[in-house]
Amino acid sequence: MKKTVLHLVAAARPNFMKIAPLFHALRRESWCEPVMVHTGQHYDANMSEAFFRDLDLPQADYNLGVGSGSHAEQTAGVMVVYEKLCIEHRPDWIVVAGDVNSTMACTLAAKKLNLPVAHLEAGLRSFDRSMPEEINRLVTDALADLLWTPSPDADRNLEREGAAPERIVRVGNIMIDAFELMHSKIVLARMADRLKLARGAYGVVTIHRPVNVDAAGNLAGIVDRLIDISARIQLVFPIHPRTRNRLEEAGLLARLRGVPAIHILEPLGYVDFMSALMDAAVAITDSGGIQEETTYLGIPCVTLRENTERPITITEGTNRLVKPDMMVSAVTSALSSARSARRCPELWDGKTAQRVVASLRQVCGMVR
Ligand code: UD1
Repeated sequence: MKKTVLHLVAAARPNFMKIAPLFHALRRESWCEPVMVHTGQHYDANMSEAFFRDLDLPQADYNLGVGSGSHAEQTAGVMVVYEKLCIEHRPDWIVVAGDVNSTMACTLAAKKLNLPVAHLEAGLRSFDRSMPEEINRLVTDALADLLWTPSPDADRNLEREGAAPERIVRVGNIMIDAFELMHSKIVLARMADRLKLARGAYGVVTIHRPVNVDAAGNLAGIVDRLIDISARIQLVFPIHPRTRNRLEEAGLLARLRGVPAIHILEPLGYVDFMSALMDAAVAITDSGGIQEETTYLGIPCVTLRENTERPITITEGTNRLVKPDMMVSAVTSALSSARSARRCPELWDGKTAQRVVASLRQVCGMVR
């Protein structure tokens, strides 16, 4: 019997850990053939290859090599190349994840060819259309046939937008599967020891959102506050390429490097990053995924954003949204307040990939 061909679209750093647990789960299924498609949106070794290695992923079956560009250039580039691949190979289903440009671009290309698409991490909304990711989420969810959500708020957002209930399947948070799958490697990585930092006595910083880094004034304000915070607690700061470029342009990188309590690093692979995060006292970030990972780990998270598409990390987790001028007090209060008992949203249990496979089995059975 011919196997069902499933394209798994991996594209950029935040998606590799969403696709990996699903790829490993699907590889154990005899009825299907998971095919890994990397669009090449992220291409630096430490933004891409390192994640494939850490997450035990084989080389992608197809690398579309699209690379960087303006939003339109990157989106269009992915569409043109992915359309060709789809016409040549006609996959039976396409799985896209998260909210990056490639997620939307592959969905658009596939739906124009009338191919079925499933969106992993559907339904998240920041209600802020100035974020490119929000546009990507809206378009992807409007078009995808199957919407796999991580939490009840996501279901409600989709229902409000008119998605038919049979398209929505709550599967939970697949990022937790990645963490649990790699747990022993993460524990063995001992990043705190390698950085000569005491466990539970340092902060992890990641910043890369356009709103925080693209305006030099905002970035300078954040840098000033990080330096203030570093008088109280050492900081580990792996710098995203976008942020590095902006810091260099604004002459701020040398300033940060001059502060001994701030450890400037290249972007870390998944295992090393999670190891550093696991032993941190606090995270300071504007990433989406880290808001979820800190909730799971019970580590306070100070998020430099005005909104979040992941409100459950506030209502049921450790996340707090702050404006840059509140960073110092938010970190101080996170460090001085006693850790509350770890809570975890429902279905953030490491079994999301299994539920996704069950859902796929059902829809593929229906179409065959
Ligand atoms: C993208 C996603 C964002 C995600 C982030 C995680 C979109 C709209 N945004 O933002 O949701 O949180 O990835 O990293 O898809 N660059 C490199 N090397 C790389 C990748 C990028 O140098 O491997 C540089 C590019 O040249 C560009 C900048 O980083 O200057 C931005 O890269 P891009 O992928 O366009 O967007 P991100 O800011 O990474």
